[in-house]
Amino acid sequence: MVRFRGIRKSFGKAVAVAPTDLDIEEGHLVTLLGPSGCGKTTLLRMVAGLETPTDGDIFIRDKRINDTPVHQRNLGMIFQNYALFPHKTIYDNVAFGLKYRNVPREEIRGKVGRALEMVRLPGVENRMPAQLSGGQQQRIALARAIVIEPDVLLMDEPLSALDENLREEMRREIDNLQRILGVTTIFVTHDQREALSMSDKIVVIKAGVIQQVGDPETVYNRPANHFVADFLGHSNFVAGRVEERRGDLVMVRLDSGFLLRAEHPGQWRAGQKVEVVIRAQRFEAFLKADYQAEDGVNYFEGTIKDRSYMGGEVNYFIDIGHKEELHVISMMRSRFFQVGDVVSVQVARRHCHLLALPEEKEPA
Ligand SMILES: Nc1ncnc2c1ncn2[C@@H]1O[C@H](COP(=O)(O)OP(=O)(O)O)[C@@H](O)[C@H]1O
Ligand SMILES: [Mg+2]
Repeated sequence: MVRFRGIRKSFGKAVAVAPTDLDIEEGHLVTLLGPSGCGKTTLLRMVAGLETPTDGDIFIRDKRINDTPVHQRNLGMIFQNYALFPHKTIYDNVAFGLKYRNVPREEIRGKVGRALEMVRLPGVENRMPAQLSGGQQQRIALARAIVIEPDVLLMDEPLSALDENLREEMRREIDNLQRILGVTTIFVTHDQREALSMSDKIVVIKAGVIQQVGDPETVYNRPANHFVADFLGHSNFVAGRVEERRGDLVMVRLDSGFLLRAEHPGQWRAGQKVEVVIRAQRFEAFLKADYQAEDGVNYFEGTIKDRSYMGGEVNYFIDIGHKEELHVISMMRSRFFQVGDVVSVQVARRHCHLLALPEEKEPA
């Protein structure tokens, strides 16, 4: 539905978006995810026609749109600040795009009514924006975007101005509506939870460069590199060397001395330097006195240095020696450890994800 081919954008000498190829399938919700300043908004604005690419082409439904003016691209847009017209009624706000397209009056009335029902605010046509709450105004912005039946819906951090509870509600609302309408959607966020929960596909971006494109499970469980693993979720990174590989089973000797058996397809070879990524939630922890690993593999031992209670979960920071620390998140199903407790920590081999590390240069 949307194709980027060699799209690049510079502002003077600064590169906001490095040459980018990306395909967005019809009906999908695709998230552009990355830290502030990585080029998400710039990419979106190029689709919208609010920014001109320095290089490359953008296609919507196989039509090159680089030179198509904003108002001739059939797009719905929602931004962080809802930007309703404050002096127009809700009806006029939602009807705006339709009037602009010279849709007959009666048809407009019907479409506006249906759009307001879709966002579960029927009957507010005669109110003014200021009479609605922030969340309601954002739903009106959503109604205004979908009423024109856009080819593509563009959303730039639409939830970030809302408070926590409302954000969750709106997130589900957008998710449902997008699926019901089947409208192709590009959703920009820096919030990994939003991205993981809504997306058909996540595009992880760092400094204008795409790091990985994949469905939420792939991006979370099989991060392509350190940046992706670090940006999504709470990750531990432990360095080591491959000792041997048998099929998909890779034995890794960590620099800290521990031995890990990872289940990871790929061309790993003995002696290769690797970084093992282990999610903080994937560990099981026991008091050392209560548990001893049979063969000592996939097993760490250490002392709780710090912990923070988060309600449903507890974060532990465990000193495992060799100046290494593990971050372990426990869902409190088992027991509650104290600072100073000596614990055994275990991780299943399928939760050990390997990343290749560059070899250090041999001294000349
Ligand atoms: N109009 C502009 N002029 C100059 N630099 C810009 C402009 N818009 C964006 N940038 C720069 O481009 C980079 C990407 O910005 P942006 O796309 O807004 O990132 P994001 O939305 O991911 O936070 C940033 O370094 C930003 O400062
Ligand atoms: Mg932005």
